[in-house]
Amino acid sequence: MEIVVVKREEFDYTAAMIAVDQIISKADSTIGFATGNTTLGMHGKLAQIIIDEKIDISRINTFNLDDYFGIPQNHPKTGFSRMHSQLFDKIGIKPEQTHFLKSDAGDWREECSKFAKDIEECGGIDLQFIGIGLNGHIAFCEPGTSFDTDYFVINISEEARKSKIALFGSLEDVPEMGISMGIKSIMQCRKNVLLAKGIEKADIVQKAVLGPVTPDVPASALQTHPNLVVLLDEDAASGIKRW
Ligand code: GLP
Repeated sequence: MEIVVVKREEFDYTAAMIAVDQIISKADSTIGFATGNTTLGMHGKLAQIIIDEKIDISRINTFNLDDYFGIPQNHPKTGFSRMHSQLFDKIGIKPEQTHFLKSDAGDWREECSKFAKDIEECGGIDLQFIGIGLNGHIAFCEPGTSFDTDYFVINISEEARKSKIALFGSLEDVPEMGISMGIKSIMQCRKNVLLAKGIEKADIVQKAVLGPVTPDVPASALQTHPNLVVLLDEDAASGIKRW
């Protein structure tokens, strides 16, 4: 595991450059994205760099880690809509290059199988960005989720839903379900980048990175990944100062 700590103002650029370097080193890279407050600025920076530096994105494929479930895919707060407004519409990527677990899929098992097959056809995920929830969740893998799950639909915990009130306006408006890659499929990505910024993430980052590897802290599974980068701003890193 490589831990990279940067100043808050360098966080988005540093994260975006990990994606840029990946695309430059392999033009047909498969990149996994995650939506959330953590990646919002990074997506903006990435769009800017791709446009300014004329980075060729014509051969990349993208997959999104998770999305809400049981709401229309074009709801403005789905990962699908946010990826489009934050990045995809700006860089003019073709729809067939982007892949999502559909929020309004009729049969979620079929949807997940298709997603897994698409990943396989693209040669696997080269680089996956991952945010972390305050309770240690990654994607929608809530505490207690077995490390052996590949894809699933889940009832989102009240704690995780509460953390999304600012996004949706009220707790009632926060969707109750999520559709998600599981720990098993995340571990199959060639390189994972765990991202966290802000003092509120310091405790959970410390547990995820230095604590025991346990389903109680789903992000801790990443400690066993052979190619993991943990990118933190100074606040999020304040619990692991000894690094
Ligand atoms: C959400 C999503 C994750 C996201 C995480 C962190 O619940 N399911 O994919 O990465 O929480 O979100 P944020 O970056 O807003 O803290």
